[in-house]
Amino acid sequence: MEALKGIRILDMTHVQAGPTCSQLLAWMGADVIKFEPPQGDATRGQLRDVPNADSLYFTMLNCNKRSITVNMKSAEGKAVFVDLIKQCDIVMENFGPGVLDRLGFTWEKIHQINPRIVMGSIKGFGSTGPYAEFKAYENVAQAMGGAMSTTGVPEGAPFVTGAQIGDSGTGLHLAIGLLGALHQAQRTGLGQYVEVAMMDGVMNLCRVKFRDHQRLTHGGLSEYSVPTEKGMPYTPRAGNDSGGGQLGNAIHCKPHGPNDYIYIVVQEAVWTALAQCIGPAVGRTDLATDAKFATIGERRKNQNEMWALITQFAANYTKREFMAILNPLDVPCGPIMSTEDLATDEHIRGREMYVELDHPQRGKWWNVGMPIKLSASPAKIARSPLLGEHTDEVLTQVLGYDAAKVAALKSAGAFSAPPKKAV
Ligand SMILES: CC(C)(COP(=O)(O)OP(=O)(O)OC[C@H]1O[C@@H](n2cnc3c(N)ncnc32)[C@H](O)[C@@H]1OP(=O)(O)O)[C@@H](O)C(=O)NCCC(=O)NCCS
Repeated sequence: MEALKGIRILDMTHVQAGPTCSQLLAWMGADVIKFEPPQGDATRGQLRDVPNADSLYFTMLNCNKRSITVNMKSAEGKAVFVDLIKQCDIVMENFGPGVLDRLGFTWEKIHQINPRIVMGSIKGFGSTGPYAEFKAYENVAQAMGGAMSTTGVPEGAPFVTGAQIGDSGTGLHLAIGLLGALHQAQRTGLGQYVEVAMMDGVMNLCRVKFRDHQRLTHGGLSEYSVPTEKGMPYTPRAGNDSGGGQLGNAIHCKPHGPNDYIYIVVQEAVWTALAQCIGPAVGRTDLATDAKFATIGERRKNQNEMWALITQFAANYTKREFMAILNPLDVPCGPIMSTEDLATDEHIRGREMYVELDHPQRGKWWNVGMPIKLSASPAKIARSPLLGEHTDEVLTQVLGYDAAKVAALKSAGAFSAPPKKAV
């Protein structure tokens, strides 16, 4: 049986942050009803690669959901929303600040309608504080949550990371909050409001940078390859430094293309074996016994010279060949994998982390798979719904409306966009 079988979610989320969360919950077996405005989640039409087909932006974040369109700006649409809330365990949204309140549905109102329901909200900055009224997208959250100021190199501009820590990262945080609140509601009969701010989520993922921020009051950061000193007011960008107690770096390999790098962690326990392996090849037969590299403290001080020697060795090998040399030495390492490397990787395919799906509008396409593996209830990934594909099904099966009621609501405009006013 699926882990969340029997849990029904009214999913008002859009774009990336919320849909990431609801897709994971759907993959764990929840019945996720994607509740869309009549024109649909904006991402259906964003970054389109196939004319008139739902974009990959949408399809990759909305699998295993049902879609119903409801016009929340009509009285009839609001009545359908109220009926749905009564039938759901979770309602979730990531609208801009105040949107649901303006539609007449504060958390207090929703809680009153269904005291058991858990409500999840993602906001850029939460509902309190000086930033509460601001909208946010991924890179805004990365900028304001500490990620950008600590990514890149000190002499360059701050950088965003390709991993969507602001959007998808916040979706993961919300999923944890919803499952906790759901568990509590099952014991107490009372739901609660779960709020995750994207800025908070990014800051949580930057936790180690605040470790370093506080360490700077006592002295420089010995493991950083860039200059740091006591009293430095902020954690600097540190390139590809490991960020942990062990030294690490990305090393360029043959044939020196943009992704021909391998990330190596020079763990304390492996130094001697690594030095014995690379030393003779770079003219340093004494490397394993050289006092400059004998202890981790010395290697930290002289790390730029150490990286130069490793890079000199790596120049003769591809990242895969170098990995094959390092693995028997037990050196923690990994080639920098491009999207193409990953899309064709045997390990990834075997773990069902890149799965082929079919879609009525776009044909064959690929989605990144379910990263959380439940032994008794593995995810079965199904395509995303077309806009409003399940409107009738939800109205009749979930709400028990009869054909006459559905028809009356349709003609009243409950599920469609109002005609544009003549100017
Ligand atoms: C992402 C974001 C910036 C997009 O902003 P936006 O496109 O202006 O959308 P908003 O969420 O602010 O507003 C949605 C509008 O659609 C309307 N709407 C939503 N669902 C509707 C429905 N079913 N029927 C009718 N109208 C609907 C809302 O009432 C609102 O209209 P209003 O501005 O008249 O109040 C904003 O939603 C946001 O800041 N969200 C929180 C942070 C977040 O999740 N960001 C990351 C996204 S990946």
